[in-house]
Amino acid sequence: MCGIFGGIMKDGNVAPIIHQALKRLEYRGYDSVGEATIYGEKLYIKKDCGKIDEVHKIHNLDSLPGNIGIGHTRWATHGAPSEINAHPHIDCGGQIAIVHNGIIENFAELKLELENKGHIFKSRTDTEVIAHLIEEAYKNNPSIRLADAVLETVRKLEGSYAIAVISSREPNKIVCARNESPLVLGLGENALYCASDIPAFLPLTNKAVIIEDGELVTLSLEGYEIRKIADSSIVTRAPKIIDWTPEMAVKQGYPHFMLKEIHEQPACLRNTLRLQEHYLDLMTTFLDRAREVFLVACGTSYHACLAASYMFSKLAFLATYPVIASEFIEQHGKSVNIESTILAVSQSGETADTLAAVNAARQRAATILGLTNVVGSTLTRVSRVYIIQQSGPEIGVAATKTFTSQLSVLAQLALRLAKKRGKISQDEMDFLEAKLKQIPDIVAKIIEKQEENVKAVAKKYRDAKVFFFLGRGISTATAYEGRLKLIEIAYVPAIAFPAGESKHGPISLVEQGFPVVFICPKDETHRTIIGNIMEMKARGATIIAIIEEGDEEVKKLADDYIEVPKGVPDVLSPIPFVIPLQLLAYYMAVEKGHNPDVPKNLAKSVTVK
Ligand code: F6R
Repeated sequence: MCGIFGGIMKDGNVAPIIHQALKRLEYRGYDSVGEATIYGEKLYIKKDCGKIDEVHKIHNLDSLPGNIGIGHTRWATHGAPSEINAHPHIDCGGQIAIVHNGIIENFAELKLELENKGHIFKSRTDTEVIAHLIEEAYKNNPSIRLADAVLETVRKLEGSYAIAVISSREPNKIVCARNESPLVLGLGENALYCASDIPAFLPLTNKAVIIEDGELVTLSLEGYEIRKIADSSIVTRAPKIIDWTPEMAVKQGYPHFMLKEIHEQPACLRNTLRLQEHYLDLMTTFLDRAREVFLVACGTSYHACLAASYMFSKLAFLATYPVIASEFIEQHGKSVNIESTILAVSQSGETADTLAAVNAARQRAATILGLTNVVGSTLTRVSRVYIIQQSGPEIGVAATKTFTSQLSVLAQLALRLAKKRGKISQDEMDFLEAKLKQIPDIVAKIIEKQEENVKAVAKKYRDAKVFFFLGRGISTATAYEGRLKLIEIAYVPAIAFPAGESKHGPISLVEQGFPVVFICPKDETHRTIIGNIMEMKARGATIIAIIEEGDEEVKKLADDYIEVPKGVPDVLSPIPFVIPLQLLAYYMAVEKGHNPDVPKNLAKSVTVK
C-alpha cells in the first residue's frame, strides 16, 4: 500500500501542496517519498528513502518549481526502500514521471521485452516498466497524446494499480488510471487533484469524484475527462460533497482504524494472490528439504502458524512444530541444528521474542525463512528467504488484515509443497487454488452481510464476564485468535481450547448462561463438534456459533449464530471464520466504550523480550 497524489493549479507552486497532501497520506506508507513537477517544459524530481519529514529536511521538497506535479509516499513491495526505488520513476529520456500504488504482476515479462528493445532500468521496482512502456508508445507514434500513450500502456498491465503520470512533452496534463487500487479526484476552485484517498486533498476541497476500476482520467486546467480503459468510451460522473471531519477522513470515514482494516481484508487477500511465484517456490524448496520445521511467532502471528501446521500436514504431509517464540530457546534451543528450518512469522518483522528465537537458531546454523509485512525489517535481513505479505501498514494495534494475509500466504506455501511432493492430485490442486481465489470475495460477502448481525450479538453479550472459544482441528487456531482479539481490545477475560479438550477440565467453569463461541465449519470435525455443543448446552451454556450458511443442525442448537458462505475447504476455513470474531471483538470494545485502536498496555510492535 502506498499513497499517490497529483495536483495541477492555475497559480502558484504545487510542490508544497503535494508535500502536505503526502503527509496526510503517510499512514498508507512511509519508507520513501518523492515528488516530480514540470516547469518550463522540463521535469524536476526529488526523492529519497525515509519518512517525509526526514526527506524534506535534506532535500527541501517545497523548492520544486511549477504548477503541476505528482508525489508518492511508499510502502515497499518490489525492491527495498532506497533512493533509486523511491517513486516517481522516469523513462530513459527523462520526460515521463510516474507514481504508482499497487502491484504489477507481469512486470518481469514486460521488463524483459523493454530491455530487449534497449530500455535501461534503474530501479528494482515493478512500477518502472510503466514509464518505459509510455516512452515506447511515444517512440512508436511520436504524435500520440499522453492520455492515449497511458491508455495503451495500462491495457498491457496485469495486476493492481492507481497511477498518476506527467510528461514534459505535454506539460499541462496529469493522466491517472485505476485498477483495484483506490483513486479519487478533488475539484478545487482553481486546481484539480488526484489522490489515493480523500484525506489527501480534504483541507483544499470537499468536492470529490470517485474513480472506478478500469477508468483513466485526464486532468488539465480546463477540467477532467474520464474514459473507460477497455473501449475508450467517455464516462460522466458528478462530484460528491464530502462532509467528513479531518479525523474521519484519515480513517476513510470509519470510526476506527481497526474497522477500516477489517474492511480492507478482501483487497489485502487479493494482494497475497499476486506474490511473486519465484519467492513462493524458493521457500517451498527450503521447506521440502528440511529435516524439521519450526513455525515460530508471537500472538496473532503464532495463531497463523498454528493454522499453518494443519495446512502443511494435511496437504503436504509435512509435520511442522508451531512454537511461541518466547518459548523457543528453552524448548528447542539445544536441539535446533544445521538441519533445522525456522519459518518465522512476524507482521512487523521486529518482534523481539521472534528475533531472539531466530538469532538463537541462526547461531546453531539453522535455516531461517521469514514471512513479514515490512520490507527492510530486521526479519528480512536475517532470513535466507523472505516473503512480504503485502497487507500495507496496519495501524490498529490488534492484528486483523495481517492475520488473514499470513494465512493466505501460508496456505499457498502448503499447496505448492503438496504439489512438489506429489501429495495431491492436479484436480485437488486446481480445486483448492480456485477456492483460494474466491476467498477475497467470500470475505467481502461476510463483512457485507454479517456486520450488523455481529453488532447485535456484541450488544446482547456486552455485559458477559467471560467467554469460551472452542473449535476442532484447524478451527482451534481460529478459536484462539477469536479469544485473543476479545481479550486485547474489549478487555473481556476469555478462554480458548480445542473443543475436545474442554471436557478434560475447562468445562467445570460452565454454568447457566455461560457464553461459548463455537467455530463450526462443515468439515470432518462437524459431527464431533455437535457433540461438544451438546455437552455445553447440557450444562446451561449459551451457544454462539459461527456456521456455514444453511447448517440447520447447528442453527437449531445455537442461541445465536453467524453464517459464512459454504464450500470453503477446511484448510482455508480460518480466513472466513475469523472475520465474525474480529468484528465481535471490535463491536464488544465499542459497546463497552473502549477505543479498539489503542488497547491499554499494548504496543503495535513489541520490541522488548
Ligand atoms: C494481536 C497482536 C499481537 C501480535 C504479536 C506479534 O492482535 O497484534 O499479538 O500478533 O505482538 O507481532 P508481529 O506479528 O509483528 O511479530
